[in-house]
Amino acid sequence: MHHLLTPFTIFKLILLTLHLQLLQAIPIHTLSPCKTSCGTIPINYPFSLEDGCGAPQFRNMFNCTTTELFFQTPSGSYKVQSIDYNKKSMVLYDPSMSTCSILQPHHDFLMTDIQSAIIPPSQDTVFVLLNCSIDSPVLNHYKYLCFNFEGHTCDELYGGCNAFRVFHLMTNSSPPCCFTSYNTMKFMSMNILDCTHYTSVFNSDKLRGVGPLDWVYGIKLSFSVPDTGCESCGQSGGICGFDTETEALLCLCSSFTNSTRGCAAGTGSMISEGVYNAPWTRHQVVLLVVVFLHMVIGLL
Ligand SMILES: *[C@@H]1O[C@H](CO)[C@@H](O)[C@H](O)[C@H]1NC(C)=O
Ligand SMILES: *[C@@H]1O[C@H](CO)[C@@H](O)[C@H](O)[C@H]1NC(C)=O
Ligand SMILES: *[C@@H]1O[C@H](CO)[C@@H](O)[C@H](O)[C@H]1NC(C)=O
Repeated sequence: MHHLLTPFTIFKLILLTLHLQLLQAIPIHTLSPCKTSCGTIPINYPFSLEDGCGAPQFRNMFNCTTTELFFQTPSGSYKVQSIDYNKKSMVLYDPSMSTCSILQPHHDFLMTDIQSAIIPPSQDTVFVLLNCSIDSPVLNHYKYLCFNFEGHTCDELYGGCNAFRVFHLMTNSSPPCCFTSYNTMKFMSMNILDCTHYTSVFNSDKLRGVGPLDWVYGIKLSFSVPDTGCESCGQSGGICGFDTETEALLCLCSSFTNSTRGCAAGTGSMISEGVYNAPWTRHQVVLLVVVFLHMVIGLL
């Protein structure tokens, strides 16, 4: 008995303890090929930062710098301010857009056809075309594209916002403006629309009687999540992804295992479920044994 418990044996036991501890401290996500956040913004299905993760419809839409998430469209990269996975909405801020407090040269906001279909601007996002020429299509043939925005007027914007006062001053009258939806921007560029600036506001249904200084400027997108059976993959401990060549759906169980359905049968799931369900118990047992052996030695 005594020679079994040499200091060397105890040293080995301690090493073993540390080893198990390390194994179990590895979180599941280091075993998975998909990042789960960018800065403070969680990245969940259907989105992803890596090609092959998330839903194939949303591939290559994001760019994560060290701390900030950008949504990429043909007209630029827009900073993502938040994503609400329950309400299925995402708020973008375009730093070069005009707002009540800053006037900036216009540019178009354009999305790809796929983006317009699966993650379009929400119903409660209103685009405001400012300083339109009297020849603008939205004042003539396409007048019907402009709507009443909770009773607000152009004069309210030109008068209430420092940034837009300049439109008033230069002409000594109110140049026309138009409250419209994203579809107008989608089918006509700012040049065709013949308005020099635009801004956009979301949560528009809550802005009746609220002045433009207090509007929330930005673009809210509402996304739909493809119904592809991703839930069962998630429940089995995997992350939904796809084959980058065929776009066939895959359940990514770990860096070493992919499966077409769930992870239950794969080795990957055994690792990941072990990590999740029994984080410290094995370690504690070994620790107890070591402590017990120390005591035995102390007694000898
Ligand atoms: C699993 O799928 C991902 C994403 O398509 C891929 O990057 C990875 O190489 C695949 N792993 C295996 C073992 O097939
Ligand atoms: C990501 O977005 C930033 C900010 O717009 C841009 O400077 C950078 O080039 C983008 N990176 C990629 C890989 O598209
Ligand atoms: C407003 O629009 C007119 C043309 O319709 C343009 O000449 C003028 O520069 C614009 N105002 C500003 C401040 O850009």
